[in-house]
Amino acid sequence: MASTQNGAAFVAFERVQKSYDGETLVVKDLNLSIAKGEFLTMLGPSGSGKTTCLMMLAGFETATYGEIRLDGREINNIPPHKRGIGMVFQNYALFPHMTVAENLSFPLEVRKIGKADREKKIKRALDMVQMGDFGGRRPAQLSGGQQQRIALARALVFEPELVLMDEPLGALDKQLRETLQFEITNLAHELGITTVYVTHDQTEALTMSDRVAVFDDGRIQQLAAPDELYERPENSFVAQFIGENNTLTGNVKSIDGQRCIVTLDHGEEIDAVPVNVEGVGDRTLVSIRPERVEINPDLGPDAHTLDAEVLEFIYMGDTFRTKLRTAGRDDFIVKTRNRADQVRLKPGEKIKIGWLPQDCRALDA
Ligand SMILES: Nc1ncnc2c1ncn2[C@@H]1O[C@H](COP(=O)(O)OP(=O)(O)O)[C@@H](O)[C@H]1O
Ligand SMILES: [Mg+2]
Repeated sequence: MASTQNGAAFVAFERVQKSYDGETLVVKDLNLSIAKGEFLTMLGPSGSGKTTCLMMLAGFETATYGEIRLDGREINNIPPHKRGIGMVFQNYALFPHMTVAENLSFPLEVRKIGKADREKKIKRALDMVQMGDFGGRRPAQLSGGQQQRIALARALVFEPELVLMDEPLGALDKQLRETLQFEITNLAHELGITTVYVTHDQTEALTMSDRVAVFDDGRIQQLAAPDELYERPENSFVAQFIGENNTLTGNVKSIDGQRCIVTLDHGEEIDAVPVNVEGVGDRTLVSIRPERVEINPDLGPDAHTLDAEVLEFIYMGDTFRTKLRTAGRDDFIVKTRNRADQVRLKPGEKIKIGWLPQDCRALDA
């Protein structure tokens, strides 16, 4: 896959570290290769180092240690405007005194592109973001979503090979965000642009990206395709940051290849896949997705079942969300699809829940 450390990488961070104060590292030994045409998202909580990584790639911050390469060239000492990178940020300020067309013309003039060519490129970029009729307006005469489309057009107008976006949709409402998510990924793929996208929104990351790098505390916790990340989190940070998760704590009792037995603190023994545990006796956090749990299950002899008491049963439209007391917890969640034959549960009801051992992952505690 595109992720290997070979010469074909279009963007490469190698052993990159960053400290602002000379003491604490906010980026710790970052190794990341991005292939040409790839849409890669840096996802993580606030303060995890995402923007810092983007700023080092853009050239507005310098790495304290390590190397950053673009298309095989080391760029640590190349100033931002000579890197040929397009950029879009949250609330990216368009020049307020210029029209939309003048805003788009600016990056072309900087690059000494002639007038006739400029006009052609501006028209094409505005058409791309479906703003062809707005060239004469000023930013203040546009809605937030339209301004963000113009910011996108301005980042693309000089046909960069690499575009960086830092939470570009953060300030927009949900519906507009979803429309633009779709437009951005389509556009990037159509134009063959390599994109590094930063967000703290996991849904955005999962729906838009070829691969996602999950950041926490200045490190990549996992780098994988969206489905891989959701289905097979490698540690408990990723399991809990991405999607909803039930967690049960216990100790590893035995390990046998792809199966282990965990003794839960509450006394029950359950089967799980040993993902991030070292050996017998280890503390572990066992994780299971709410949609992989069945109520009054009919999963065959391999399934694990537990007794549970219904605490809440919430109608969500397309799904039901049941909160349960089980295995010593009172926050165990089960999500079930809303089917015509769905039995509605009541608080206080005693039920059984079950899941398949392969859906249950033993992770670091
Ligand atoms: N210009 C700066 N000067 C000093 N510290 C900074 C600066 N920018 C970011 N930081 C610190 O670096 C860490 C990572 O920040 P940042 O890269 O902005 O994270 P993110 O984008 O994931 O929220 C945070 O602890 C933040 O306070
Ligand atoms: Mg940031």
